[in-house]
Amino acid sequence: FAPSRATADARGLTIVITAGPTREAIDPVRYLSNHSSGKMGYALAEAAVRRGATVKLISGPVSLDTPPGVERLDVESAQEMFEASRRLAEQSDVFIGCAAVADYRVEHVAEHKLKKTAERDDLTLKLAKNPDIIAEIAALDRRIRPFVVGFAAETRDLEAYARDKLLRKGLDMIVANDVSQEGLGFGADHNAALLLWRDDDRSPGRRELPAQTKQTLASAVFEAILERLTASHE
Ligand code: CTP
Ligand code: CA
Repeated sequence: FAPSRATADARGLTIVITAGPTREAIDPVRYLSNHSSGKMGYALAEAAVRRGATVKLISGPVSLDTPPGVERLDVESAQEMFEASRRLAEQSDVFIGCAAVADYRVEHVAEHKLKKTAERDDLTLKLAKNPDIIAEIAALDRRIRPFVVGFAAETRDLEAYARDKLLRKGLDMIVANDVSQEGLGFGADHNAALLLWRDDDRSPGRRELPAQTKQTLASAVFEAILERLTASHE
């Protein structure tokens, strides 16, 4: 695989993408989750398959159609997403963690529906930390480790937090979104991004991608991933 920069295509590459939210059960009828729509991850899957890649999409519960040509695996909890990611990442070239993984799960999931009680006006749920999926993938032995791309949605100090996540989780690249801007990010059809990548021991490389549809942004992000992947093999 040695495409020129201008015509880089993704034939022969296997890309694993996580997308959407996770659901953490409280009891058989309730859960904790977040507002992730899955649009960005699905747009990336579509962009990658259009470039000829084999794409495996590990998806939390979303209401989106599977892009044609994409192999989709549905999961609910962070733990399920973790297991699917570990299994598929080892045979892949690129792992893109686009999912909004719940940081915590309910420590003890009730076997039966929780009943409202007359005695108390409050209820405490004890939460336990979920595994950090992308950090675990990034820590795989280098012989089986894919090129790892994370996402960071922040409401302030975008670059500092994203840079910290890039380094702390051992990622190769991070796509940072400022979700405090109206009409961009969570649930929206548009997004802007700041790309940061590790560049030897120097300070991270950076590129700003202006606000655009999630489809065109996904193409630009995927293009940048191919560029960095090629550079990392040189
Ligand atoms: N991520 C993951 N597993 C988790 C949490 C996050 O794989 N348990 C991944 C996300 O898919 C994303 C990246 O880590 O690619 C950053 O997610 P984010 O929620 O921004 O990072 P956190 O470390 O959870 O930090 P924060 O406290 O800001 O939520
Ligand atoms: Ca988080």
